[in-house]
Amino acid sequence: MRILFLGDLVGRSGRDAAGAALPSLRQRLGIELIVVNAENASHGFGLAPEMARALFAAGADAITLGNHAWDRKELIPYVAQEPRVIRPLNFPPGTPGAGSLVVSLADGRRALVVNAMGRLFMDALDCPFRGTAVELSRYRLGGTVAAIVIDFHGEATSEKAAFAHSFDGQASLIVGTHTHVPTADHQVLPGGTAFQSDVGMCGDYDSVIGMAKEGAATRFWKKMPGERLQPAEGEATICGLFVETDDATGLARRIEPVRLGGRLSQTMPAV
Ligand SMILES: [Fe+2]
Ligand SMILES: [Fe+2]
Repeated sequence: MRILFLGDLVGRSGRDAAGAALPSLRQRLGIELIVVNAENASHGFGLAPEMARALFAAGADAITLGNHAWDRKELIPYVAQEPRVIRPLNFPPGTPGAGSLVVSLADGRRALVVNAMGRLFMDALDCPFRGTAVELSRYRLGGTVAAIVIDFHGEATSEKAAFAHSFDGQASLIVGTHTHVPTADHQVLPGGTAFQSDVGMCGDYDSVIGMAKEGAATRFWKKMPGERLQPAEGEATICGLFVETDDATGLARRIEPVRLGGRLSQTMPAV
């Protein structure tokens, strides 16, 4: 299975670039499953239902979230009736929506998509390790599902790496989100799980992690609350991952970064 994962869409710049590129990326790379983290799509904070609908129309199969899940309140009732938008599975019991989703491809193959959130330098939540172990125990990779994609939304690289090694061999892809900067550690782990500790954002990189640099810098100079951060509006770099799996095992054969447009160095997998 060919999978495309795009990191946190930030504001209009990231949202529009991703929406415009998804149909052509799907075709060019022969993508069969598209997962997008959209926790910052709405002006940097949250996701509005109409933006989710636009991403689905552009070809996204599942949308993941993170600590900004509920910044747009309209999303709370929306996730209760739209299973393709998932929020971290380790939110408190009773939280609307679900932490996972099974996507059925047109040819009948199924893929499990999971969203979990780290706890190091993040909000206190239930244990993402134990929660994910319980979730994965319900499926058999290469059996009941052909692929498993886990978006681990976290601040600390150590926690992300520990999480990935803990589930190496049990997922097709474990990809970090939240820091908005792509790391260079993308690899297929020894057990066959593709991993990158952070995929980066889809947004303007002439910024402080997607937000306008002047206002963001002021916050560090003056220890006083400033104006609300605004998303940077220059051309976005689309940052994502291309992963190819073996349907028989569900494990990864290759993992390649995708960086398209904007300021970062460009890279596109050869297929
Ligand atoms: Fe984010
Ligand atoms: Fe985040």
